[in-house]
Amino acid sequence: MKLECRTRLSESQLNALRRRRKDFMNLIGNGIAILPAAKPGDSPAGDRATYRQDSDFLYLTGCPETQALAVFIPQHPNFQSVLFVRERDALSELWNGPMMGVSDAGAILGFDQVFALSEMEKKIPEWLSHADTIFWDSSPEQEFFEQLRPLLQGSRLRRNGAEILNVRDVIHELRLFKDDVELEALRRANQIASSAHEAAMQFVRPGVSEFQVQAVLESVMRSAGSSQLGYPSIVAGGSNACCLHYNLNTCRLDEGDLLLIDAGCEWNFYTADITRTFPVSGKFTGEQRALYDLVLESQIKSIAAIKPGAKLSELNDLAGRILAEGLIHLGLLKGSVEEVLEKKRHKDFFPHGLGHWLGMDVHDVGRYRIKNVERPLEPGMCVTIEPGIYVQPGTADVDPRWHGIGIRIEDNILVTANGSENFTPCAKATSDVESLVGTMSPQLSTFFRTN
Ligand code: GLY
Ligand code: MN
Ligand code: MN
Repeated sequence: MKLECRTRLSESQLNALRRRRKDFMNLIGNGIAILPAAKPGDSPAGDRATYRQDSDFLYLTGCPETQALAVFIPQHPNFQSVLFVRERDALSELWNGPMMGVSDAGAILGFDQVFALSEMEKKIPEWLSHADTIFWDSSPEQEFFEQLRPLLQGSRLRRNGAEILNVRDVIHELRLFKDDVELEALRRANQIASSAHEAAMQFVRPGVSEFQVQAVLESVMRSAGSSQLGYPSIVAGGSNACCLHYNLNTCRLDEGDLLLIDAGCEWNFYTADITRTFPVSGKFTGEQRALYDLVLESQIKSIAAIKPGAKLSELNDLAGRILAEGLIHLGLLKGSVEEVLEKKRHKDFFPHGLGHWLGMDVHDVGRYRIKNVERPLEPGMCVTIEPGIYVQPGTADVDPRWHGIGIRIEDNILVTANGSENFTPCAKATSDVESLVGTMSPQLSTFFRTN
């Protein structure tokens, strides 16, 4: 068995995990927190083929294995971080690859103490009895181990006077602020996904199909070592781009179409979320260029306004105003800017928000409001900035020459102490995009055009 098949963390990854656990345990004080791994997948191909670890569990444990449970007990005199894992099992290893096992998981993942899963029922009740607060996820869809269910029934714990809080709320607040290891992964995911988008631009020409472009895009991601997509790739030609989450990817691309691609891959479980829109034939038409320039202007100005203290709603307003002004100027909207904004008529063309948190999950965790008050941006937060304009086919009162144009441009941004860092190096200026389209060598591009 090759060594790479086993979990190996770098020193900096291990240090980051230790810091996260320390921060987490500071927050839970005299409590105890219990967090299970994601349940095994149903795939007959074995649990490693399709298994995606629960992001909260991964954030605190670094453990990719299923059938594992983490327990954090800050007040315990001898050990504070505990992991329960399966014992190594030759048959399971034969089919699914090496396991860490009880003997090695502690050193590999930096846990104070590791026990076999079979010891769970013996150990946990004792720890629970000393805690004043129990942090866990009691939602019905949460797949707890059967043996744990009776121990963690709300009524039983409440009878002992313990308060029960949602463990995920605490972890999500920590996950909102990315540490160096997370930022490195987001940067790398963005570099790979940007290369993939640019390869797709190079490949595209009239006559190829959306799924062929998807194949180019995803093969670049995989070949750079990314093991998963962050979400299903959207490869939307022409008016398909006006469907926000189009991902059938079955249509042929024709001369004159724009192609909108919203796709991102993971690196070490952190995902990019990038959108680019470009002309299939390598030249924007006048209408396409006018709307593209507008979306790009709103995106660049929104990104420039990112700094600690700024609010996402302010950025949304800024982008909305730029789009509204431009749409009025181009004749797609009528009336004054104030009227349009007041009646939110620009939302007919820009129906989604400007962005969202980004991290291990594409729509990452973390509260946008605290006690119903919007929170300002702070260093370490990562957001997407993704304005768009979509003119649905047949839109009344809009000249048909605009119909069916759908454009979105999306970058991934880190809030820094002084402003922001843009993680997304992918071409987006019209001239850069135009000069990339259709430039893939015939040999390479033939390979992807097999019918
Ligand atoms: N890719 C999904 C989104 O941009 O939110
Ligand atoms: Mn997004
Ligand atoms: Mn996206």
